[in-house]
Amino acid sequence: MRRAAARGSQLWELLALLCWAAAAPAPPSAAPLLCNVSLDSPAEERWLPVLRHFDPAFLRAAVARVIDERVPKWVHEVIRPIAAELEFLMPQPFAGEMLGLCRALGISLGDGVLLNFAYESTAFCTSIVAQDDKGNIYHGRNLDYDFVDILSKITIDVQFIKNRQIAYQGTTFLGYVGLWTGQSPHKFTISGDERAGGRWWENAIAAFLNRNYPVSWLVRDTLSRAEDFQSAVLRLAGIPIIAEVYYIVGGVSPKEGMVITRNRRGPADLWPLDPLGGAWFRVETNYDHWTTPPPFDDRRTPAIKALNATGQHNINFDTLFKVLSVKPVLNNNTVYTTVMSAALPDKYQTWIRTDT
Ligand SMILES: *[C@@H]1O[C@H](CO)[C@@H](O)[C@H](O)[C@H]1NC(C)=O
Ligand SMILES: *[C@@H]1O[C@H](CO)[C@@H](O)[C@H](O)[C@H]1NC(C)=O
Ligand SMILES: *[C@@H]1O[C@H](CO)[C@@H](O)[C@H](O)[C@H]1NC(C)=O
Repeated sequence: MRRAAARGSQLWELLALLCWAAAAPAPPSAAPLLCNVSLDSPAEERWLPVLRHFDPAFLRAAVARVIDERVPKWVHEVIRPIAAELEFLMPQPFAGEMLGLCRALGISLGDGVLLNFAYESTAFCTSIVAQDDKGNIYHGRNLDYDFVDILSKITIDVQFIKNRQIAYQGTTFLGYVGLWTGQSPHKFTISGDERAGGRWWENAIAAFLNRNYPVSWLVRDTLSRAEDFQSAVLRLAGIPIIAEVYYIVGGVSPKEGMVITRNRRGPADLWPLDPLGGAWFRVETNYDHWTTPPPFDDRRTPAIKALNATGQHNINFDTLFKVLSVKPVLNNNTVYTTVMSAALPDKYQTWIRTDT
């Protein structure tokens, strides 16, 4: 009975959500909300000022829909009985932040964890790192995912503040404490693209219970700890994670660009920029760079063509954004585009893509 009632109210929220989404006119590419999150505040409290910008009923409906459509039922059965222990299984600050967010939204910590898994499981993306002919490094990414209608409304740029300075920043979905895109100012930039492995859920849950990091948590952890490009690459290549992924890293000096192909336990391959050998850019979508992408999902070739046409002399924030706007690099699932360069941290810029 209770369950049926809960379902009913979820359905209402979902209907309200769909109407709201249909009624809102789609603006052209727009910048997301820019938020400060204070690392000097207790983890449980630091997201609360951000939450005030959003309608809690909309957020609860969004969480319910993403979990419902993305997380297999057996995963609920595994996570629900251990919900009370999750808090102690997860490292800080992730545990504290999720606890605070879930409490404020009135959802269980188990659902908060499932939501974070849902976003980890199927993000199709394109990342590019490039060096211009003066040695400047540029890094751009498209993040592609289902639920564009929901996610475009909860995409935020976050500046993590410590001692009144930006310690690091990134782009994420509200409620998701990891980062798929981020920058440590004057040090390095990181993006993550999914690498589809078989039996994703089985392996991810087992590795998570074994205390491996979700892939987006390692991005954030690296942004907060690594001192430079080199140490960022070492951390991203070596620390055990719950799923396979590609990490793309840009630095501040010539040649500082790398695509890391990850297995759960460690690196499968490191693919650096080689500007002296003519390789002034690297493109990574969701396929190993040494294989050919499947014809039904080749975003790599159009991206390379557009970069070739642009030329090393002309690559910059604007032209990189244009490359990331070529179809099907930009497609109906693209939620946002970010361009960044760690040497020019103020130029970090994200656009919500409602123009596809
Ligand atoms: C965020 O914090 C920085 C550093 O303290 C400050 O300069 C900036 O105005 C703040 N921005 C917002 C949107 O609150
Ligand atoms: C891009 O340019 C390189 C170097 O000229 C060439 O080898 C490659 O085939 C080009 N790729 C595409 C997709 O145009
Ligand atoms: C996106 O969807 C529209 C309408 O369904 C379709 O016409 C268009 O070709 C799609 N664009 C891409 C890049 O897939």
